[in-house]
Amino acid sequence: MKQEKGEAVAEVTEAQIAVHWKEEEYVYPSAKFIGQANAADPAILERFKEENYPECFKEYADLLTWDKYWHTTLDAGNPPFWKWFVGGKLNACCNCVDRHLAANKNKAAFIWVPEPEDEPHWTITYQELYRKVNELAALLTKFAGVKTGDRVTFHLPMVPALPISMLACARLGVIHSEVYGGFSGKACADRIVDSGSRVLIAIDGYYRNGRLIDHKAVVDEAVEEAKRQGIDVEKVLIWRRFPGRYVSKAPMVEGRDYFLDDLLKDYRGVKVDPVSMPAEAPLFLMYTSGTTAVPKGCQHSTGGYLAYVAGTSKYIQDIHPEDTYWCFADIGWITGHSYIVYGPLAVAATSVMYEGVPTYPDAGRPWRIAEQLDVNIFHTAPTTIRMLRKAGPDEPKKYHYHFKHMTTVGEPIEPEVWRWYHEVVGKGEAAIVDTWWQTENGGFLCSTIPALQPMKPGSAGLGMPGIYPVIYDEDRNELKAGEGRAGNICIKYPWPGSFQTIWGSPERYIAIYYEKYCKDKNSRDWRDWPYLSGDAAVQAADGYYRILGRVDDVINVAGHRLGTKELESAALTTEEVAEAAVVPVVDELRGRVPDMYISLKPGLAAGKAIEEKVKQNIVKMVGPIARPRNVYIVPDMPKTRSGKIMRRVIAAISNFADIGDVTTLANPEVVETIRKMVQGDEVKPSQEVPDEIKKFGAGD
Ligand code: WTA
Repeated sequence: MKQEKGEAVAEVTEAQIAVHWKEEEYVYPSAKFIGQANAADPAILERFKEENYPECFKEYADLLTWDKYWHTTLDAGNPPFWKWFVGGKLNACCNCVDRHLAANKNKAAFIWVPEPEDEPHWTITYQELYRKVNELAALLTKFAGVKTGDRVTFHLPMVPALPISMLACARLGVIHSEVYGGFSGKACADRIVDSGSRVLIAIDGYYRNGRLIDHKAVVDEAVEEAKRQGIDVEKVLIWRRFPGRYVSKAPMVEGRDYFLDDLLKDYRGVKVDPVSMPAEAPLFLMYTSGTTAVPKGCQHSTGGYLAYVAGTSKYIQDIHPEDTYWCFADIGWITGHSYIVYGPLAVAATSVMYEGVPTYPDAGRPWRIAEQLDVNIFHTAPTTIRMLRKAGPDEPKKYHYHFKHMTTVGEPIEPEVWRWYHEVVGKGEAAIVDTWWQTENGGFLCSTIPALQPMKPGSAGLGMPGIYPVIYDEDRNELKAGEGRAGNICIKYPWPGSFQTIWGSPERYIAIYYEKYCKDKNSRDWRDWPYLSGDAAVQAADGYYRILGRVDDVINVAGHRLGTKELESAALTTEEVAEAAVVPVVDELRGRVPDMYISLKPGLAAGKAIEEKVKQNIVKMVGPIARPRNVYIVPDMPKTRSGKIMRRVIAAISNFADIGDVTTLANPEVVETIRKMVQGDEVKPSQEVPDEIKKFGAGD
């Protein structure tokens, strides 16, 4: 990792930051919003003060129903493997479903909106969800033979089958591992193998941008690839998008593939007791990209995770029983796990799920859904906001919906885009939270508390209650608020939502997240173990944090984390390719897009066919979201004298930024050749780019 080499100090002067975004004025929430907010009393800030840490988190744990109450809030005896609410036992499914039946059995848990506009919505009440989850849990034990502690992988898109499958596993104490539906068979296989899953739950097809995608074909690739890697998936359980009607062309494999809608008929009305799990038992794995080609399985706990997402759903998402809450994210990512499924259901909300893309069949679609369902809390990512703004800047005005609250998550949001979100989407009425966090974290780390702290466009805000961020420079100095320097944002103490380890790689967990700023490796005091996020940030004088982007080798494409090594190793599977280097390019809609540079094996001639092949291999191995914008076949990569590829130089070329001094390179002449290839003969004035791009790959 580049941080470990001490070269990549994310230092930016105030002036440089100002080139991108200046410090904005506060925007205040309305009196109406404040009047109804769950966290309107500043006493919450007192309760979560540093001196009350870690006991303050009892408040979140008390939102849950415990089979056995816990005795120790935080056991830090084996850092950095934190244990929360030790001694406690609970079941996550019971907390999200069963316990709501008494008062809310006829309330909608989910309202599922299919992409085709003429297909009816499916409103799933808590009672119906309870039935479905029990039946599937029964089938999983009796038919598929899964037991508490086993892993089950899902490769599912945005259909109700996904939360039903998650909750059925949670009911049994089975660890689920959902792989984003848009990922390739290969990416799914890698995750099946890493988690050691013997059962895969998937679907035959789903709608995306007006097309019925044949998903079962991808599932078959996953199972075949897993087999090549030595893991035999014994049972592939297939939901059907239209029960009773198979929409895929891929044949069902006898003795391996089964239709769930058929099998479930045998389990009608069967109930399964929820398994009472220790608070620190793993609930699920969520894989994320990092600095190596192997994705990391972030292991999340049952008690700590659920308490944290319940607390933040209540206070930061401001969900009340009568609200209709729509998080427009994919459950295949952490945002969907925490803030479509577990958080909202823990607080008995009505959570809207939408199958398709934002602009299908036109850019008015999200606002028609909001109008029809009377959605009043809306949650999405900057990339979606930018897309909707570009495709239909005036669309929201045409629809009669009113949001009281909106969230942005996943990438920095440009103040200009923030303003459109506030004024046009939110009609100037909604309080906005810009929530900064990561797959590893379980729930929000920084945000404003919507009724208590004003919004500032482009800033995430302060640490959440009980979360104490700190920015360190490379020399371990703590940077002060308003100092105007950027550094590595860390979290001083553990929190209940934090992941427990990387599945199967505890040493990577320590090395990647804790080693850099650990004050004393022998210490058992949590104060000595700050968590390294891998993001650069700057703190304004008022304490608000502005996140500047990743400082490691991760490219954030439309809110999805892609590891450079993953993309490069996919490119290298093309037999003609000798070397590959990928860099992020600033993109108006998607935040960043990848540009892939390759050099060929000796004697081969460049050509469109090879470029196309590289693109296809990346799509095949990672997924369509990773498709490079361009593939450039270069005569040689710019390299240091020790032979390392200078990604920073090609990143500058792709972004039309200042290339800087290249005289120390082993082959400086190649830089101009590449520049002309990408930018044309004429030298254009250089563009200002974010620091992350200026320093890209500096640690290689
Ligand atoms: C980025 C998504 C700026 C950041 C929940 C982080 C953000 C990565 C924000 C995690 C935000 C997330 N402002 N940047 N509000 N939220 N990020 O794991 O770089 O998919 O490290 O989790 O997204 O992405 P992940």
